[in-house]
Amino acid sequence: MSRVSPRPEIAALPPSVHGGLDHGELARLTIHPDDVLDFSVNRNPFGPPPSVRAVWEGVSLERYPDRECLALRSALAERHGCGMAQVWVGNGAAELIWLLALTYLSTGDPMLVVTPTFGEYAAAGRVMGARSKMFVARQRDDFYPDLDALVIRMKKLRPRLTFLCNPNNPTGVYLEREVVKALLAANPSGLLVLDEAYAPFVENGWDSTPLLRSGRLVALRSMTKDYALAGLRLGYLLAAEGIVGAVRRVQPPWSVNVIAQAAGLAALGNDAYLQDTLAQTRAAAVELARELAALGLQVRPSATHFFLVKAGDAAATRSKLLRRGILVRDCTSFGLPAFVRIAARRPEENQRLVAAWRELM
Ligand SMILES: Cc1ncc(COP(=O)(O)O)c(C=O)c1O
Repeated sequence: MSRVSPRPEIAALPPSVHGGLDHGELARLTIHPDDVLDFSVNRNPFGPPPSVRAVWEGVSLERYPDRECLALRSALAERHGCGMAQVWVGNGAAELIWLLALTYLSTGDPMLVVTPTFGEYAAAGRVMGARSKMFVARQRDDFYPDLDALVIRMKKLRPRLTFLCNPNNPTGVYLEREVVKALLAANPSGLLVLDEAYAPFVENGWDSTPLLRSGRLVALRSMTKDYALAGLRLGYLLAAEGIVGAVRRVQPPWSVNVIAQAAGLAALGNDAYLQDTLAQTRAAAVELARELAALGLQVRPSATHFFLVKAGDAAATRSKLLRRGILVRDCTSFGLPAFVRIAARRPEENQRLVAAWRELM
């Protein structure tokens, strides 16, 4: 029997690791998913806006979704003050990361990822056979990238795509506008993909849309974090028309389902809920960080509602907390085996995390 092998890039691909419940693991531990408080995913802990729940009724399930997401793109364009032709919607920001790799990377093309960061950028590059390079922001610099060195690296490597997550997952480091402008200027021959999945969680963040004029910035947004629509899958990118025109060609048809499109529209219409819950989440994160530090733990500063905590052995800490019904993100897959990442939840839920951790000490 002859065997057909997958492409070598696929065979060499490590499994992707993410936060969230591992249902197989919970079944082995005989823990019911409903009994776990999940601090390992970075979403709005107050859930989706109430208006989103109502959309099911009005949605026609027998029709194909609008492949161009016209209504949602029009609302997003209005929100960001740009043209509809500069907006494209995906089945989560994750799909758009993969589509960008598919659109812009061929075998051997240079690409750069500022790490430690979200693993999908490197995975997508590997699948395309790109020459994927990492620029490491060091722990001793509080995970803030050495900008002079990064600019030099970009000038030398001239990556087709540079992935920069801002604020960064998992470190919470947030780069200012001038820094991103300098990075954009450093490499006229490639695109800078600025993943702003967590930007809405930053207090007084800056607006990257004016930088779209450069023609080389792709801003990625997720609606699964701020609007808590992880189960529905919804994200979008903002970029120059030419970039949008290229990415849309490689997207599988009907990728964004009818419910996700309707939910996205309903969510955008409920700004007060978003602003209110994000403010509460930020306040809860500050308080949680303070209480964990008071236990003697080393808590890293963060511009957003999730932060790194030094745990010694992250895998062991995760599993001890899980037995107490608390899930945190072991950061070993980010190359940080001494850290766990915690995303603040509601104040009363955060108290359960503090109590469980106190028991470990
Ligand atoms: C930085 C970053 N970008 C993108 C994503 C994917 O977001 P989505 O759920 O919209 O696919 C994640 C998910 O964890 C993330 O952390």
